[in-house]
Amino acid sequence: MKGKNLYPEIKIKKLGIKYLDHCIKLDKKTLNGIWTKRQWQDELTNAKRICLGALHQTKLIGLTSGWLAKDEINITFVGVHPLFQNQGIASLMVLSLLSRSKEIGISIATLEVKENNLAAKSLYENLNFHQIGFRNKLYKDGSNAVIYQYIYN
Ligand SMILES: CC(C)(COP(=O)(O)OP(=O)(O)OC[C@H]1O[C@@H](n2cnc3c(N)ncnc32)[C@H](O)[C@@H]1OP(=O)(O)O)[C@@H](O)C(=O)NCCC(=O)NCCS
Repeated sequence: MKGKNLYPEIKIKKLGIKYLDHCIKLDKKTLNGIWTKRQWQDELTNAKRICLGALHQTKLIGLTSGWLAKDEINITFVGVHPLFQNQGIASLMVLSLLSRSKEIGISIATLEVKENNLAAKSLYENLNFHQIGFRNKLYKDGSNAVIYQYIYN
C-alpha cells in the first residue's frame, strides 16, 4: 500500500458516534491509545469538538480532532494508519479542519507536539504553523513539547 498515491480515493468527513470503535482502534494503532472510550465518546458527541476522519472506501485510516474555545481551535489529535502514512492524508485532514473551523468563526489554531516527532513537526511547518513556545518535559515519558500556532488569513 505504501508509495501508492491514494489521495483521490480519500474522503474526509465529520465523524459521529457510530465511528467510536474505529476511533479507539486507530488511536491505539497511531498514538498507543491516548484516550479512553469515554473520552472518544465525548469527542464524537460534544458540540465543542470537531472530529474528522479520512476514509478509504469504508475503512477509517486517519483521524484528527480539535477543541473549540471562543475564536480558537486546539488541535488535540492527528493520526494516520501506518500503512497510509506519507501520502498527504494528514495534510488533507488538517487543511479540512482549518477550513471547516474558519467557517464557524475560528481565527487561531494551536497544537503541541513532542520535540522529537520529526514527521509531525514537518507536517505542521509545511502547513504554515509557526513555533510559538516550548514546554520542558510536558509528556509522561519526559519529552519536551513544541507549541505551534496557525493564524488564519
Ligand atoms: C505525523 C503523521 C500524522 C503524519 O501523517 P501523514 O499522513 O504521513 O502526513 P503527510 O503525508 O500529510 O505528510 C506531511 C509532511 O509530513 C512530513 N512527513 C510525513 N511522514 C514523515 C516521515 N515518516 N518522516 C519525515 N517526515 C514525514 C513530510 O514533510 C510531509 O511533507 P511532504 O509531503 O512535503 O514531504 C503520521 O506520521 C502519524 O500518524 N504519526 C503517528 C501519530 C503522531 O505522531 N501524530 C502527531 C501527534 S502531534
